[in-house]
Amino acid sequence: MSNIIDKYVEGYIRSLLPKNQGILKDIEDRAIKNNIPIIHGEVANLLKIIINISKSKKILEIGTAIGYSAIILCQAAGDYAHISTIELNEERAQEAKYNIKRMGLENNIQVIQGDAMEVLNFLDEKYDLIFLDGAKGHYQEILEKSIDLLKNQGVLISDNVLFKGMVANDNLVVRRKRTIVNRMRNYLEYICNHPKLQTSVIPIGDGVAISYKKMEE
Ligand SMILES: C[S@@+](CC[C@H](N)C(=O)[O-])C[C@H]1O[C@@H](n2cnc3c(N)ncnc32)[C@H](O)[C@@H]1O
Repeated sequence: MSNIIDKYVEGYIRSLLPKNQGILKDIEDRAIKNNIPIIHGEVANLLKIIINISKSKKILEIGTAIGYSAIILCQAAGDYAHISTIELNEERAQEAKYNIKRMGLENNIQVIQGDAMEVLNFLDEKYDLIFLDGAKGHYQEILEKSIDLLKNQGVLISDNVLFKGMVANDNLVVRRKRTIVNRMRNYLEYICNHPKLQTSVIPIGDGVAISYKKMEE
């Protein structure tokens, strides 16, 4: 159980979601079988809707794993989509490239293998949407490095912000996760009070924060 919402509500919402088919289902199954964390179905659905509403085409993802969410982002963004996605783990980055090729999306998705904290220093393009889904203990530093890469009126989506409910309830915090939980609390305070952002925290999946970058005044 996620400790975010009641299991019966979560199960019901998930029962309404369309199921993956073909290669994407195969990638999802492989991730689950190998304990590779990937976005929950309801988060995938929310991402697709936000991409459609915001008409995002240029997307930056931090935390590729094996490419599952990058493929979903790319499919939702449709024609002329371009996704840059950063993954620290070399083996996962290689598998992501393989999966992206299987989906025929290698011209639309660029996998950058490296530490986002370093890679972000070298990116200078502007993105319509940033999806933050890696290095939970470093979200604030990653955002500080990437906020100028997000266009005005762009969208930042941060996943796992409630981290198994621990971020919202001290009684759930396991000792070895205390630092991450404290950092995530600081991150949420930061994005909820940031002068350039308007943020809503949504209790689905492992907790998602959606932030809109306001126009510069
Ligand atoms: C939750 S998984 C990403 C799941 C993926 N977005 C999906 O849903 O298919 C987080 C990934 O972030 C990667 N990661 C952790 N720290 C990172 C860093 N500093 N830079 C880049 N990637 C990092 C991990 O290796 C892991 O594969």
